Amino acid sequence: MQELEKIWINGDLVPWKEAKVHVLTHALHYGTAIFEGIRCYKTNSGPAVFRLQDHLKRLYDSAHIVRMAIPYSPEELEKGIIDTIKANKLEECYIRPIVFRGYGEMGIDPSSCGVDCVIAVWRWGAYMGEKGIKEGIRAKISSYTRTYVNSGSPRAKTSANYLNSSLAKVEAKDLGYDEAILLDINGFVSEGSGENIFYVKDGVIFTPHPYSILLGITRDTVIKIARKLGMEVKETLCTRDDLYLADEAFFTGTAAEITPIIEVDGRTIGTGKRGEITRLLQEVFFRAAKGEEPDYESWLTKL
Ligand SMILES: Cc1ncc(COP(=O)(O)O)c(C=O)c1O
Repeated sequence: MQELEKIWINGDLVPWKEAKVHVLTHALHYGTAIFEGIRCYKTNSGPAVFRLQDHLKRLYDSAHIVRMAIPYSPEELEKGIIDTIKANKLEECYIRPIVFRGYGEMGIDPSSCGVDCVIAVWRWGAYMGEKGIKEGIRAKISSYTRTYVNSGSPRAKTSANYLNSSLAKVEAKDLGYDEAILLDINGFVSEGSGENIFYVKDGVIFTPHPYSILLGITRDTVIKIARKLGMEVKETLCTRDDLYLADEAFFTGTAAEITPIIEVDGRTIGTGKRGEITRLLQEVFFRAAKGEEPDYESWLTKL
């Protein structure tokens, strides 16, 4: 990882190398952390953070679900994010606010441990490569079931949920695929290890119902863009067969942006190339993120 200059810890910008926690930090042992992944894009009028208020809203929703009181207001975190980007002199970056149970008493009950808050930023290009964005990637249905609402709350972006994601990702890569697709506890398609999923059939766009997924900001962005372009989008139950027989499929996520899926479990999706609807959605999405779509200006927080 390329080191930058500063990381924000509990309100202070500290040198990158000194941004450390105690080895007995509760979250390190028990996964008691919630976080966000946000992107800042370069626009003609300087750097702009994409859908910052929506990401902060989801952070506070995650905190509410796991009963962790964030010791800062959304306005303070917004300022912390902007200060951190500026302190690192970045025009484009990935932003990682994380809120976690810190150093206190050991044991599963976190209530005696304080809540710490960190904001880090780094340079991060296309998550699955520029080639992945243009030519698509190959995915595998995972042998791991997605964490479900009564076992870990997929709606909350908790660190603990990412062991499930990590196991699925490593399995998919070991088997020669780029990404995993997890099914929910009832066997319906839920999401990728760090992305939501969509497919296109006969001109209609489908995406899994919100029950067993993280409600992605990029998912919402794509739904809004597609509907504004006059396309029909259905949130529904999806099966692996739906994916196998789709004309197009793609992942969405802050890291993955919009990444076409050209193969699932050895079955070619559509023509085996990025589909036309996927390409159009990518085009509008990137234009919106880079401040080139006046209709979506309100999604940008300019520095
Ligand atoms: C499991 C999972 N689903 C979906 C997403 C997509 O969410 P967003 O578009 O808000 O980044 C992510 C990424 O944060 C994720 O980790």
